[in-house]
Amino acid sequence: MMAVRHDTPAGQRQGPAQSPRSTGDGCPVGEALAAVTALVDPRLEAALALSDDAPPRLLAAMRYALLAPGKRLRPALVLWAAEAVGDARGPSPATPSSAALAAAAAVEMIHAYSLVHDDLPAMDDDDLRRGRPTCHRAFDEATAILCGDALQALAFETLAAGLPPAVAARGCAILARAAGPEMLVGGQSDDLAAERGWLETERAGTGDDPVAWMERVHRRKTGALFRASLALGGLAAGADEPSLGALDTFGRAFGLAFQIADDLLDAEGDADATGKRVGKDAERGKLTYPTVLGVDASRRHAQALVQEATAALEPFAERAATLCRLASWIVSRDH
Ligand code: IPE
Ligand code: IPE
Ligand code: MG
Ligand code: MG
Ligand code: MG
Repeated sequence: MMAVRHDTPAGQRQGPAQSPRSTGDGCPVGEALAAVTALVDPRLEAALALSDDAPPRLLAAMRYALLAPGKRLRPALVLWAAEAVGDARGPSPATPSSAALAAAAAVEMIHAYSLVHDDLPAMDDDDLRRGRPTCHRAFDEATAILCGDALQALAFETLAAGLPPAVAARGCAILARAAGPEMLVGGQSDDLAAERGWLETERAGTGDDPVAWMERVHRRKTGALFRASLALGGLAAGADEPSLGALDTFGRAFGLAFQIADDLLDAEGDADATGKRVGKDAERGKLTYPTVLGVDASRRHAQALVQEATAALEPFAERAATLCRLASWIVSRDH
């Protein structure tokens, strides 16, 4: 199991026994992700060492959401992108620079906030996340909303203070755009449109093509934060523009492959392994790859995207080996 504290608010029951399967246990990608967790979680803990002005219940919800046992994929992309371009500031590859660690913490904060809000009754209305009750179930809806708001702001504070001044403004702009109305929030809004019959007005630019529509939703709701993670890792390590471009090409294909796999896990996976309820996308009438293309075609499409993603990493040669392995794993995982 990942060494993550399971903070539970006072007076609340512990979560169910299920939790996402360990990412270690001899799988090279699992071991590498466990190493990322060991580096990043203390940085997340440090960022949550807030003064008494942060109310205890709010802080408990932030700890609950942020330190829960997720895969830490976005921090991994930050650190491995920095490694691919040669993280010159860290004393060794196993010790990333403080800039890369700050960026890794910041993207995980945005991700954790987006999950808390994604699970709210007004959105996907889920009760299980990372093998535990969702934040609004463990606390209450208002606290969950405020927890998301707070994590989002803390992400930008962490990034602004953690990047070298020469690249801090650019880094914050990259993250803000990825998290904003054209990307993560816009994608989430359009994701809901599909299940709520707003599509006729919202499908602008994609006509009646449901695959084009889905790709556009996935690119924004999920892909944008992966691309930002790679860009921030590159930026923290002083990457040049061609390297940032190659990382972005990787991120585009990787992000879509990831979300197709997430859709497939909802269709075919199980709650014990994923740590979240499955079968809910179809129940809600969401537009997903397996519902539109079918399982086999979705799987083939995800595999083709992995090829595309890894081809983009050729300029980095062996330094991008871990990123390449992650891309292959992302479509074969069970959680
Ligand atoms: C789940 O992301 C939410 C989506 C963007 C589909 P992850 O699968 O990375 O979730 P955790 O961080 O491991 O819980
Ligand atoms: C969530 O997508 C995307 C964001 C949180 C931005 P999903 O709704 O598919 O994620 P899960 O399946 O609940 O983790
Ligand atoms: Mg959702
Ligand atoms: Mg959801
Ligand atoms: Mg999903």
